[in-house]
Amino acid sequence: MLQSGFKGKAKAQPIGFDREDWASAYCNVEKELANIQIIAKQGTVPNELSGTFYRNGPGILERGGHWVHHPFDGDGMIAAISFNNGKVSFSNRFIRTEGWKSEEEAGKFTYRGVFGTKKQGGFLANAFDLRLKNIANTNIIKFGDDLLALWEAAGPHAIDPKTLETFGLSTLNGVLKPKESLSAHPRFDPGHHDQKRMVTFGVQTGPKSTIRSMEFALAGEKAGQLISDRKDTFNGFAFLHDFAITPNWTIFLQNAISFNPIPFIFGQKGAAQCLTSQKGKKGKLWLIPRDCGQFAGASPKIIEGPEGFVFHHLNAYEDGNKLILESIFYQDFPSIGPKDDFREIDFDLIPEGILKRCTINIINNSVDIKTISQQCCEFAMVNPNFQGLPARFSWMAIAECSTGNGPLQAIKKLDLKNQKEWIWNAGPRGFVSEPLYIPKVNSHNEDSGWVISLIWNAAERITELVILNSENLKLECKLEMPIAIPHGLHGSWVNN
Ligand code: CO
Repeated sequence: MLQSGFKGKAKAQPIGFDREDWASAYCNVEKELANIQIIAKQGTVPNELSGTFYRNGPGILERGGHWVHHPFDGDGMIAAISFNNGKVSFSNRFIRTEGWKSEEEAGKFTYRGVFGTKKQGGFLANAFDLRLKNIANTNIIKFGDDLLALWEAAGPHAIDPKTLETFGLSTLNGVLKPKESLSAHPRFDPGHHDQKRMVTFGVQTGPKSTIRSMEFALAGEKAGQLISDRKDTFNGFAFLHDFAITPNWTIFLQNAISFNPIPFIFGQKGAAQCLTSQKGKKGKLWLIPRDCGQFAGASPKIIEGPEGFVFHHLNAYEDGNKLILESIFYQDFPSIGPKDDFREIDFDLIPEGILKRCTINIINNSVDIKTISQQCCEFAMVNPNFQGLPARFSWMAIAECSTGNGPLQAIKKLDLKNQKEWIWNAGPRGFVSEPLYIPKVNSHNEDSGWVISLIWNAAERITELVILNSENLKLECKLEMPIAIPHGLHGSWVNN
């Protein structure tokens, strides 16, 4: 058993997890299923829960006996779990990307992976092969009549929400140029300026970085249409996985990170392995005015930001002349080196994610940073109706230990006002994935509804879906999925 690590910061706790239990979730998905009925193994499915949970993540980790170097290199597979009047059905399907089709046919990796997966054949096979394999594995969202499977270094794949069939690469009705990339992290404005909008971006990076900010109408006559489009160029390399929105701003945190492409070009490292944190250097906050807000058309503001590396933001909101940005900070960029096996990582040696709050004064450009919670967390969200607005509650995946790093094994509801917390724990042999909060339709309470998450049950080597009461995190229902699903990435909920 591994003891969770504390790096001398706090006293150790007698919490243990078995790394093999955690790693046992990483196996290939062998089957594609359609509309399989699922029965609860514990509790009952709430009748009011009506819609579909779509979840994306790597479904192929090994081909021809060779493993991906990092699970982020695994081909995207969508799991869809539909709820209708207490009945539940399950479907899953791989996204038919060009890379997936070619590698299925070849029975081996024919592309290099961004996170270090190599083709067989050593130096000669890998050097100078700079093609990107769009693996479409990071997020899945509803947009118009289609789902979009997102991967941030290339364009989105359109998917049929009913059959999960892949229609192909989408330009979003001509908005994206061929080969233009689109972020995997759109933000959904719940109606800051009347109608709901999807706010998203694409980034082209190098010595300078250009962000294309786009807003799409989601309702009314212009539903699906691009209603705002601007480009802003900033100095420096940018690795922007996520961003945040408020009624007047989009907020980007340019991590203090450098990119040395030489080992990538020569086939020794994947592109993402060539990123290095610039120790002691601060990031920059790039604030871009939204076209629908009071600073429309103005130039962006660039403000010296905090130290540390951020993949994900929780939320942002405005308070007079201040912008509040809540994000999960790592001490530096966590990378899996060319000689490491991802299934044998030492959690003690990689930094944990810590939820922090930056208060940005947009008049004097000062930034104040405070830790909200010391406990390792990831995949945090607020009620989607409070996106970009002051939210009191958040839900997130956490490690069992109260400080230090560990795999994600529990779900926490955190009251952002008074730090009160509620925890549902899947440990010691259960491992959680991104929790999704689903608000009760027509409820005015910020926290009324459910939290759902896929759980890796290592004792039985199965995947389960749990439905928790979102107010107190009590388990309402547990369902066994008909296939084992590897630890995944992001998903979304679509009401019926
Ligand atoms: Co993400």
